[in-house]
Amino acid sequence: MSIRFIESEQRFVLETRQTTYQIKIDKTGCLRHVYYGKRVGDTDMDYLYRTTDRGFSGNPYEFQDDRTCSFDTMPQEYPTFGVGDYRVSALRCLAKNGSRSTDLRYASYEIREGKYKLEGLPYVRGGDEKVETLFIRLKDSVTGIAVDLMYGVFEEKDVITRSACIRNESQETVILQKAASMCLDIPYGADDLISFNGRHCMERQPFRQRLGQNIVTVGSKRGMSSHHNNPFVILCDAETTEDSGESRGVMLMYSGSHKEEIEKDQAGTVRLVAGIQDEGFSWILDPGDIFWTPEAILSFSFDGLNGLSANYHRIIRENVCDPMFRNKRRPVLLNSWEASYFSFNEKTIYELAVQAKDLGADMLVLDDGWFGSRDSDNSGLGDWTVNEQKLKGGLTALSDKVHDLGLQFGLWIEPEMVNENSDLYRMHPDWALSDPGRKPNVARNQLVLDMSREDVREYLFSCINALLKESRIEYLKWDFNRSPANIYSHLLPPEKQGEVMHRFVLGVYSLLARIREAYPEVLIEGCAGGGGRFDAGMLFYTPQIWCSDNTDPIARLFIQEGTSYGYPACTVGSHVSASPNHQTGRTTPLSTRGIVASSGILGYELNPASLSDAEKGEIRAQIETYKKYEHLIREGTYYRLKENHSGAETVCWAFVSPEKDEALVNLVSVNVAAKTPFPHIKLKGLREDAVYMIDRTGLRTTGAALMYGGCSFDIPEGDYPCTQLHLTEIPG
Ligand code: GLA
Repeated sequence: MSIRFIESEQRFVLETRQTTYQIKIDKTGCLRHVYYGKRVGDTDMDYLYRTTDRGFSGNPYEFQDDRTCSFDTMPQEYPTFGVGDYRVSALRCLAKNGSRSTDLRYASYEIREGKYKLEGLPYVRGGDEKVETLFIRLKDSVTGIAVDLMYGVFEEKDVITRSACIRNESQETVILQKAASMCLDIPYGADDLISFNGRHCMERQPFRQRLGQNIVTVGSKRGMSSHHNNPFVILCDAETTEDSGESRGVMLMYSGSHKEEIEKDQAGTVRLVAGIQDEGFSWILDPGDIFWTPEAILSFSFDGLNGLSANYHRIIRENVCDPMFRNKRRPVLLNSWEASYFSFNEKTIYELAVQAKDLGADMLVLDDGWFGSRDSDNSGLGDWTVNEQKLKGGLTALSDKVHDLGLQFGLWIEPEMVNENSDLYRMHPDWALSDPGRKPNVARNQLVLDMSREDVREYLFSCINALLKESRIEYLKWDFNRSPANIYSHLLPPEKQGEVMHRFVLGVYSLLARIREAYPEVLIEGCAGGGGRFDAGMLFYTPQIWCSDNTDPIARLFIQEGTSYGYPACTVGSHVSASPNHQTGRTTPLSTRGIVASSGILGYELNPASLSDAEKGEIRAQIETYKKYEHLIREGTYYRLKENHSGAETVCWAFVSPEKDEALVNLVSVNVAAKTPFPHIKLKGLREDAVYMIDRTGLRTTGAALMYGGCSFDIPEGDYPCTQLHLTEIPG
């Protein structure tokens, strides 16, 4: 049993392979967090909770004779607003009488086999492995609000999922003003916070900061998980490195506006509350209504940040992404975007397909510009029928011709958006989010459809259904190219406008779920101007995501490495593009572009007609090599081989097979200088006593030698050269 209730102590013990999580019901029914750390079995860890009379930290009424007991200093599982915990709260409710206080006390518990699901939201799938769920019900006897805290324990994977389900069991309406998914109080050992920040074309850059006695907020109000602040944070010890020390991660499985608040309090306890962004949010909970919060994925590692990443990679690969694609080779595609942008016709696209086939790719993807009046990014979104003036004969004929070449066919769509210059907008202006009487904010000249509306979703389903029914399409690239603003639905009453942003996200999920159900074989690649919605919520429906609009391999080194802290390489869409690069103007060797793009789901995004025969030959070889090693990239353990890249001369990373009998080591030199020392790195994750052979150098030596002595590299001269080594175990 990975979940136990020790009745005599009123204590829950949740156990994974390496960790223990403990919760206690205190004598007044408050649910206290006790411990999350290295496995300690049933040992009561409550001795860690030290109390003292801290001034200005009031006491629950029952404790008025004991001034040492305060909500304000007590580690809690789900703290509420208004009753004397002045730290960040997880729940804030507005009762009919105007009171905003909630006081949750223990009501009951249940332990079940298997993993709970969430209504209308993505969740970590149970699969075939052993998973148990703990439900703890808390209730406020005054407002009648009940909260079911849910804990899914994935024993083997060292993962605990959390979510809260809020019910109105009273006779009166209550308004939720904040409804976070979870809270984690850490009395010791959370010195540093690592968050993943960035911008369009430079997503998920790790930022490590020492916590002080204040509140750090990571989050997005953009209606999307965002390029700017990914819903994933790590708390770790000051000493934690890539390979040693403790670290705990919290990843929110949500694609909309989110908030992670990290507060270090007067007593040094660090509180982390994560959930839906509360600014602009409110939700009316009528009697009997239920509100489901998104799931948070928690993991703890004692093997440094690489260890934590490995835990997240496994759970995402095996339990978040659709199992249908888990062991499936993903197509190497040629995407038309950077090859021809909006100017193409059926002949030029067919010519791209011929070239793609010649290079050894598996699929031709027709990106933006094929529909409605879409000759630039100013018009056409919403009109999902082919522009026959551009593509004579239509999509079906084109797709058939592409298939006749022996290639698959993929298509770009951006369903959640509309241009004012479109038939859809002219017909249904009220389908776009916009404030009454106010000109809407435009971005890329487009507006956002109100995905909370069923009629909008129905329309979009019928468009996508028609495309998939009429033409042979094996892949969709699902884009989302602006942050929503003017969050107002013309269908909902004024008092429900605070619900729109979350209803929007639920609407997107339900449309995706419906398409997945109708067309399970169709692979959907998520995208939002590159990686603006790179999160575990989207990965539930789209097992790969276009990682960034920046295809410059040197920028990509850092974007992909930042992404790797939480997300596995098999989810990262990554393409070789032209040089000089279209985003940065940088010139890089084709070999380096190949190595970087091959560390994700490889694709190409250039016009092969502009390449020399030698370059085409190199690309053919790249694709062959990728197909040879693709299993390592998909299923291997990923290692960042160097710490902290500021001022680095090389970036190195490796994939090691689950059996540790094979590895792929990559190195890119980002800062070339004359007569430098040989780049030297210590490999990771090999078997000490196994003997490996390095293909390029012929060196045969043990895993211990390669990990503890390391190896040095010869790298070619010139700008941004790279080296790739393949290691195989020599049977002993
Ligand atoms: C976004 C995507 C790009 C491309 C364009 C098309 O920016 O991230 O890859 O599809 O839209 O407009």
